[in-house]
Amino acid sequence: MERTFAIIKPNAFADGNSGKILSRIYEEGFAVVGLKKLYLSQVEAEGFYHVHKERPFFAELTEFMSSGPCIVMVLGADNAIKKWRDLMGATNPAEAAEGTLRREFGTSLGENATHGSDASETAAFEIGYFFSGLELL
Ligand code: CMP
Repeated sequence: MERTFAIIKPNAFADGNSGKILSRIYEEGFAVVGLKKLYLSQVEAEGFYHVHKERPFFAELTEFMSSGPCIVMVLGADNAIKKWRDLMGATNPAEAAEGTLRREFGTSLGENATHGSDASETAAFEIGYFFSGLELL
């Protein structure tokens, strides 16, 4: 079983959509290996998104990610990385397919409701950034 890292972002949490997103996660057959609610500082968000630090949207992204609570998760499934990215849909909610989470719960490119790892190396970094081994038993 592959593991991926996922976030229910502050806009989806504030809009009360965490339960609906979790329902979709269970319906699609993911195992929720780890889960916790966090209220990130901007420094913590900057560390998480360090690969984007040269991008023009870095300040906007890290301010948004530290603007309210979020839910961080480790999801398990066969092909979990691709399966979760497929369920989320395109990064921009306006381009995401009907039935995807970002189409349903995203409001803009920045406030796109969910995050998911894009590759196995990224998943390993992102899982380790937020979870200890003991939290993933
Ligand atoms: P995510 O999957 O969390 O990975 C990086 C995030 O940066 C991405 O989702 C978007 O929410 C955000 N992002 C990407 N491009 C832009 C942009 N042009 N303006 C604001 N945010 C962006």
